[in-house]
Amino acid sequence: MSNLKDLSKVDLPGATEAARPVGTGFDRVPGSDDTSLEFNDPSYMLKDPLGLTTRALEKYGNIVYLPGINGYLVADAPFIESMLIGDERFFSKSAETMEKISPAIGNGLSTLIGDEWKRQRKIANPSFSKRSVDTFGSVFHECINEMFDEWDARSEGVLDATQEMKKLTLRIVIKCLFSTDIQRFTSDVTAALEVLQEYSLLKLWSPASISDANEQAYENAQEKIDTIIYRIIRDRRQNKEIQHNDLLSMYMSAVYEDTGEGMTDIQLRHEVMNLFLAGHETTANGVAFALYLLAKNTQEQQKLHAEVEAELGNAICTLEDLKRLDYTDWVFKESLRLYPSSWGMSRVAVEDYQYKNYLFPKGADFIVAQWGLHRNPEYWQEPLKFDPERFAPEQIKQVHKYAYLPFGAGARKCIGVHLAEAEGKTILVRIAQRYALRAVDGNEPTLKARLFMTSEPGVCLEFIKRN
Ligand code: HEM
Repeated sequence: MSNLKDLSKVDLPGATEAARPVGTGFDRVPGSDDTSLEFNDPSYMLKDPLGLTTRALEKYGNIVYLPGINGYLVADAPFIESMLIGDERFFSKSAETMEKISPAIGNGLSTLIGDEWKRQRKIANPSFSKRSVDTFGSVFHECINEMFDEWDARSEGVLDATQEMKKLTLRIVIKCLFSTDIQRFTSDVTAALEVLQEYSLLKLWSPASISDANEQAYENAQEKIDTIIYRIIRDRRQNKEIQHNDLLSMYMSAVYEDTGEGMTDIQLRHEVMNLFLAGHETTANGVAFALYLLAKNTQEQQKLHAEVEAELGNAICTLEDLKRLDYTDWVFKESLRLYPSSWGMSRVAVEDYQYKNYLFPKGADFIVAQWGLHRNPEYWQEPLKFDPERFAPEQIKQVHKYAYLPFGAGARKCIGVHLAEAEGKTILVRIAQRYALRAVDGNEPTLKARLFMTSEPGVCLEFIKRN
């Protein structure tokens, strides 16, 4: 059954809700007539996307039009289900948006669209299967051990959890990708990734404000990272006899079904860039917010400790062990609900699309706002409460399946989901085995939504060694 009304009778105005003529028989999407500055000036989206999203959804409901960015915010589970699953063919990542961010984050799996994306996803999928992820368990522990050694060398118990987790997950992603420890590059890479992320946001929401200094910083960052990546790829091609058990070698040995050929150096470089960005900050923030929530909620922290003690004691936690740790799983899930690293996903309508009595014109831009969805009181009781048990099977069954999307859904669901869950939970368990966490007065997260959501400055917590 077609999703569309008889459009031949409707004179479509193009992708602008505000310009929709009255009398088409469709409702105007709430927000269209809002004349406030924050709804109409696009710079508000750049400055405070989470605040604006919260206020817009509170004021107008689960589907809102924001004239300033000429786009729709969506926190409506059934509509999202249609967008990502049932009527997925009507929606795509936006070529225009991807073009703006891909110079900075790479023209790889997360930014490609259409057939190019399909081909790339096919070649990449096996590298992220559950079986492949099993090979990375030891990497997590090596990197966590190194982090603990560094912490032991410090006299102070208060640490910036956000920064520490970013360092750790970058180390992990570098090791998973290259199996070498490019420790000495880590701070260079971190700084360069920050610059690239800032630059892509400016490109996206405020291109007119890009200065020569921004351009220069972007080019330097790009060059720094390219130098590292291309050198590693070159070394691999020259020393084919050396076996590596890492993502890069999986990528380098994979071949396209249609040509039987592998990825070019340039494509590999783009994929590596994508994984650097998509694969470390997301997990880091997920874990850092979980640590913060545990520090603030002592009962829940005790429950986590009790589970870890009962199931593992001080034994090293394998990926197999993780399957038994239900409460740990719920803690990680609940943290990603309250603080979704991916706070919004962008989509564009590739055809006119009708949902309820709204008509979204071809070319309409959407932000599927996990930030609003995960805190939506229509789907979650006491949405602001940290309550890991809401993910217990009996309880979560009651919640709309598409009200919780930390990793997205449908064909473009996060390819790194198994890796991220295994990594995040392993870090939580290892920290729980060693430390009790205490909140530091006045140190609440200062949320900042860039490509991903983080706290800036980071959240400082007290890590107290357990016996
Ligand atoms: C807690 C951690 C993570 C979260 C919350 C997260 C979230 C997401 C989300 C929501 C998407 C879908 C975006 C969309 O549909 O527009 C996505 C895609 C993606 N993620 Fe993750 N991610 C995480 C970790 C990882 C890791 C560890 C990797 C790899 C090392 C990774 C690699 C990717 C890639 C390559 C895509 C694009 C997939 C495609 O479009 O085919 N992510 N991620």
